[in-house]
Amino acid sequence: MKKSIIKSTGMFVPPNLITNHDLEKIIDTSHEWIVQRTGIEQRYWIDPKGTTGASDLGFEASKMALENAGWAAQDLDFIIFATLSPDIMFPGSGCLLQAKLGLDSTPALDIRQQCTGFLYGLATADAYIKSGLANKILLVGGEVHSSGLDKTTRGRDVTVIFGDGAAAVCIEGVETKKSAGLLSSSLHADGNLADALMTELPASRLQCRFPKDIPVDDPRYFPVMDGPAIFKKAVRFLPKVINESLKKAQIDLDEIDLIIPHQANMRINQALGQFLKLDDNKIFHNIQKYGNTTAASIPIALHEAMEQGRIGKSGDVVLFAGLGAGLTWGSIIYKFL
Ligand code: UT7
Repeated sequence: MKKSIIKSTGMFVPPNLITNHDLEKIIDTSHEWIVQRTGIEQRYWIDPKGTTGASDLGFEASKMALENAGWAAQDLDFIIFATLSPDIMFPGSGCLLQAKLGLDSTPALDIRQQCTGFLYGLATADAYIKSGLANKILLVGGEVHSSGLDKTTRGRDVTVIFGDGAAAVCIEGVETKKSAGLLSSSLHADGNLADALMTELPASRLQCRFPKDIPVDDPRYFPVMDGPAIFKKAVRFLPKVINESLKKAQIDLDEIDLIIPHQANMRINQALGQFLKLDDNKIFHNIQKYGNTTAASIPIALHEAMEQGRIGKSGDVVLFAGLGAGLTWGSIIYKFL
């Protein structure tokens, strides 16, 4: 059976650097609070005067990934776009990206799994490759959060953490007897906890999606999060799902060369390390630079970890893990060919 092999990666963040001190000017917060509670020092937001959507960021990341793979866009036979912030209500950002790549018939699928969008996307790509439905897949995670954040003190717990960005991965089905590709994947969801992190409006379940009696600055138009509740779930569920994926792959934790967790909060990932009794250099952090870029966070981290030479040699094993809105959570173990 074919193995799903990561051929290349690419990433892109918009040029508008927003430091914690910039946020201090618009909301009641402080650099010290943000760093101490989250580890975040800065993030990138799109130019508020522009019209940059998730597919635009994804396009830049995709060009880099395609170039690094030595592929033309025409070589692709499937596109998967993970985002919680699609450019428009519909059609999906995958279709918009496909057109930007100069394509006109390649299938394109959107995944709406928030912080675990890349994990669900990678598992989907693997299933498409193993079933023979596709062989050269572009998987993108891309988000534009900044245009949908409550930039008043009311929304400060959420607004300070999110950043915009995208990353792309070229995945190819390769016939090999070697142990490589996805060694295991464990995905979960609990929709009973949907309201712990959600943006409620506009809502198709209402008679009118933009109710005239609800002002446009109503909190329901912005992401609302029960941060401490999500934090506790992350610290409990992540070690559990990591152990589940290790068991499925029949490997020990000490065979993992690097853990690349979703970058939601530095403290969550440090707690994960303590729980697993792992040295901190086995866990990749880059939340300081980008904040939480949701579906883009794991592939941006993968791109940087590979660029820094921390992972990517033949035989290296990386474990991805994340938890976020849905709730959704999961873990995937990948071995480089
Ligand atoms: O990727 C999606 C998944 N999301 C996550 O994994 C996020 C998980 N949760 C978290 O990362 C943390 O809960 C937050 C970073 C969101 C918040 O940190 P916390 O330590 O849980 O703070 P808290 O919500 O318990 O709030 C503590 C205090 C409150 O003030 P009082 O009531 O104690 O006076 C908040 O109003 O901190 C206040 N606060 C802030 N102060 C300054 C909340 N946000 C801010 C802020 N600046 N930005």
